[in-house]
Amino acid sequence: MLQFTDEWLEKVQSSTDIVALIGKRVALKQSGKNYVGLCPFHEEKTPSFSVNPEKQFFYCFGCGTGGNAFNFLMKMDNLSFPEAAVRLAELAGIPIPSTSPRYEQEIRQKRELYHINHLAAQYYYGTLVSPRGFKAREYLIKRNISGQLVRQFFLGFATSEWHGLINFLKSKGVEIEKALEAGLIIEGQKGPYDRFRNRIIFPILDHQGRFLAFGGRVFDQSHPKYINSPETPIYQKANNLYGFNLAKENIIKEDSVVIVEGYTDCIALFAKGIQNVVASLGTAFTENQARLLARFTNNVIIAFDGDVAGEQAIGRGLEILKGQGLNVKVAVLSPGDDPDTFAKRSTKGEVQEWLRNAKPYTQYLIEKAVFANDIDSLEGKLLASKEVVRIIVSLDNAIERQEYISFASDLLAIDKQSLSIEVAKLEEIDKKRNFPHILSQNRHTKEDRDVVESGENLLERRILQWILAKPALLDELLNIGISWEDFENHKYQHLLRLLIRGTWDQQGELIAEELYHDNQPLSDWENYLDNFQLRLYAKELLKIEEKLISLEKDIEILPTKREIFQVIYEYYGIRKRIFLLNERNINEGPLERGGIDER
Ligand code: CTP
Ligand code: MN
Repeated sequence: MLQFTDEWLEKVQSSTDIVALIGKRVALKQSGKNYVGLCPFHEEKTPSFSVNPEKQFFYCFGCGTGGNAFNFLMKMDNLSFPEAAVRLAELAGIPIPSTSPRYEQEIRQKRELYHINHLAAQYYYGTLVSPRGFKAREYLIKRNISGQLVRQFFLGFATSEWHGLINFLKSKGVEIEKALEAGLIIEGQKGPYDRFRNRIIFPILDHQGRFLAFGGRVFDQSHPKYINSPETPIYQKANNLYGFNLAKENIIKEDSVVIVEGYTDCIALFAKGIQNVVASLGTAFTENQARLLARFTNNVIIAFDGDVAGEQAIGRGLEILKGQGLNVKVAVLSPGDDPDTFAKRSTKGEVQEWLRNAKPYTQYLIEKAVFANDIDSLEGKLLASKEVVRIIVSLDNAIERQEYISFASDLLAIDKQSLSIEVAKLEEIDKKRNFPHILSQNRHTKEDRDVVESGENLLERRILQWILAKPALLDELLNIGISWEDFENHKYQHLLRLLIRGTWDQQGELIAEELYHDNQPLSDWENYLDNFQLRLYAKELLKIEEKLISLEKDIEILPTKREIFQVIYEYYGIRKRIFLLNERNINEGPLERGGIDER
C-alpha cells in the first residue's frame, strides 16, 4: 500500500492548477474571478458548474458536487484517493514516493504476472481462432457466443496438449518458475504441465483491464465443469468480479450494476445489450466485491440462478451489499432458469423488462413467503403470515415497515391492523428475549440457576457472552462504571481486560471459545447488567457496614459526627439505588435468577 506524506500531497496539490485540470474535460469560460461551464456530473443546459482558481475548488450549484482537484478526478474517473493522487502527481511530474524496496519488488513481480497472463490469453485466443479451435468454436456458436463476443471477452481455447502453453511461454522467454507462480502450469511428478487442457478459456480481468486469472470450461458433460486459476499474488477470488473491465463504463452510465453468478450468464446478458453486468463466479459474495462496486454505483440488481442454491446466495450476497449501503433489488427467475438460458430465449426488450421489474429485496422475500404457502387454506395463510411478520420485524425503518405491512396484508388478504399488531408483538418478544446467537436447542435445556460450578461465576460469564455477541455493549458496561476489576473470576477478568484494551492473546481466545460454545444467555442484557450492579452495591454496603461498626467501636480516633454522617449518607444512597433498580425490574417483570443471591 502506498503511503503518502502530507508534505507530498501538499506538493501535488500546489503543483496542480485546477482550472487547467478541469479545463481539459469541461469547456470553461471565465466569469469574473471564476470559471464556469456545463457540469459534467449532471445533465444541464445552462452552466451552473464553477471553478474557483483562487481556492482551487470546484462547485456545481445545480447538483451540489464540489471539491478540490483530487475530488474532481475521483468523481470524474471513479478513482480511489491514492489513484487520483498518483494521477495528479504524474501530470505535475512529481515522482511517486517509492516506499520500501520490498514494495517495489512486489510491484515488479505483479507486473510480470500480468504480462505472463496476457501472453497466455493471446495464446489461448490464437488457438481458438486457428483450425485447431474448430470444435471449440462450434460449441460457442451452439451457445450463441458470437465472434464479436469472443473478442470482447477475449475467450480462448486450450487444446488437450500437456505442454502447449508451456512451450509457447518458453518461446516468449518466460521462466517456468513465473508461469507456475501465475498458476498457469502445474508441477507434476514428471515435470511441469499445462493446468488448462481441452477447455474453453475465460480470462478474468480487473477493472483496469489487467489479466488476473483464467477459468476453463469443458465443452461436454465431463467433470469438473470448470477449472479456475488458483489464488496468486495478483488474483484473489474474493476481490474481483468477472466482466468488470467491460462493464465499468456502463455501470457508471446506467448508475446500476447487474450481478450474475456465471461466466456464461455474464456474456449472455452482455450480448443482449445489458452491458452493466458482472459475475461473482459462483462463490459467496464478499465485502471487497461490494466495496469495489460501491465506488461506481449504489444500485445493484442481483440476478442469480432460479434454484435453491441461487436463492441462498442471494440472501447472503444481499446482506453484504446492504452493509456497504447499496440499494439491492432481485431479478427473479423461475426454477431451472439462469440468466443465460433466460436471455437466450428472450428478446432484448424482454430481458430489459425483466430487469426493470426487479424487486426490492423485502418485497421479494414477502412474495416468496406468501407463494410458498397455499394461502387459500387457513393453515397456509397463518404460516405465510408468520413468516411475513418475521420479515417485517427485521426492518429498521418505520416507514418501510408501514409500506410492507400494507403490501403484505393486500397480498395475504388480511386486515392491515392485525398484521401491525402481530409485528408489534413479535418485536416485543424479540426485544425481551433476543440473543443474537441463541440456539433453539439451548432455550429450554439447562436453566441458568443450575450452573454455579466451582469458582465459576455465571453472571460474569453471561455478561461476557453478551459482549462477545454484541461488542457495543462493552461501552454500556464501562459507562455505568463497571470494569474488569469488578469481576471476580480470574479468567473472566482477563477476557474483559483484553476486550477493554482491544488486544488479544491465546488465553483470551480460549476463554472466548469456551463462552461461545456454552449455553447462551436466556435472559436479556439489561437483566444481567442490573443483577451485576446489585451485586456490586451489595459489596459496597457490606464495606460500609464494616466501616460503621469500626467507627462506632473506635474510641481512640473519636470520629466526628460529620464523618459518621458521611458514611451513613453513602449507605442510604446505595440503598436507594438498589431500591430503584429493583423497582424498575418489578415493573418490567421479575428478575431471572442468576443474580445477586446466586453466589
Ligand atoms: N464454477 C466453478 N467451478 C465449478 C462450477 C462453477 O468455478 N465446478 C463457477 C464458475 O465461475 C461458473 C459459476 O460458478 O461460471 C456458476 O456456475 P454454473 O451456473 O454451474 O456455471 P455457468 O457458468 O452458468 O455454466 P454453464 O451455463 O455453461 O453450465
Ligand atoms: Mn449457470
